[in-house]
Amino acid sequence: MIRAAITGISAYAPEDVLTNAELAKIVDTTDEWIMTRVGIKERRVLKGEHLGTSVMAKEAVSDVLRKTNTKPEEVEVIIFATTTPDYIFPSTAAMTAEACGIKNALGFDIQAACSGFIYGLEIGSNFVKSGNYKKVLVVAGDKMTAITNYKDRTTCPLFGDAVGAAMLEPTTEDVGIIDSILHVDGVGIPHLHMHGGGSVYPASHETVDNDMHYVYQEGQVVFKHAVSKMADVSVEIMERNHLTKDTVSWLVPHQANIRIIEAVGNRMGLSSEKVMVNIQKYGNTSAGTIPMCLYEWESQLKKGDNIILTAFGAGFTWGAVYLKWAY
Ligand code: UT7
Repeated sequence: MIRAAITGISAYAPEDVLTNAELAKIVDTTDEWIMTRVGIKERRVLKGEHLGTSVMAKEAVSDVLRKTNTKPEEVEVIIFATTTPDYIFPSTAAMTAEACGIKNALGFDIQAACSGFIYGLEIGSNFVKSGNYKKVLVVAGDKMTAITNYKDRTTCPLFGDAVGAAMLEPTTEDVGIIDSILHVDGVGIPHLHMHGGGSVYPASHETVDNDMHYVYQEGQVVFKHAVSKMADVSVEIMERNHLTKDTVSWLVPHQANIRIIEAVGNRMGLSSEKVMVNIQKYGNTSAGTIPMCLYEWESQLKKGDNIILTAFGAGFTWGAVYLKWAY
């Protein structure tokens, strides 16, 4: 049986740091509020005129090609999960292909908000399992600061910029992506969205005046759904794969709020050492959070480790992926 395995992981976060102290000079907030309610100390910002998400993708993809000894022309598929594409069109996959010299691939963007990386893994895994594709790149991440309103204290502390990239290749060993459960239900549409710039509200003076090109979020509603949906789907994927708190090696949760992460880990019965957390350094980088964690923890991962990824985002979209680490 062919499975898709992650054979290399990389990520890139820009160097410029925006601290809570700096934010407190812009909006009415405090380091203490942000740390206790969300768990973020600082986040990264892609500075510079006219730099988009693909600038970060170029760094992550180049590194993952190097790590997996892959020439750009050998890449067959690029799946790019992002909510902050460089442009409405062409796709950020196309921008990344151009930037990295990838010439023989098919490529497209997907929009699953913060669940983008796990959606991308499921799609990429099926490309590999078809037997027709052997080098599939799943790229995920966002320049969230491009759609963050720095006059809105309820959202501006949350977000940062980063992109990750994973290479998927076929394996017949007992490793790789084993199971996934993914959902979208539309329940979240009123509670978490950006209405400006699409076909319903194309950019106009009115959309700009009404702050419609920024993230709108009703935090409490989203929080409650995030906890219950991520915990339920993570427990479900454990149960149907006969995993226990002892046989799960790592939980890689989307990094939106430390309180959500802790609640999900607790529901799964996991000790905190098994839960990857780096929200304090990067904030919520949307589709970028899970590959950022995998990249940061890569040296601690062992072949055969049972890893559960779980995410929740606008839509609502949510889900969990179970994989066995392949190297
Ligand atoms: O990644 C996609 C999915 N997104 C998420 O999972 C995010 C889920 N939501 C959350 O993480 C949390 O709801 C937030 C972090 C967004 C907000 O935390 P909260 O504990 O739900 O706060 P709240 O909205 O209930 O607000 C509590 C209080 C309010 O004041 P009053 O009405 O009690 O006087 C807010 O005005 O905190 C106030 N507040 C702030 N105070 C200082 C809101 N933002 C701030 C702030 N600094 N930045």
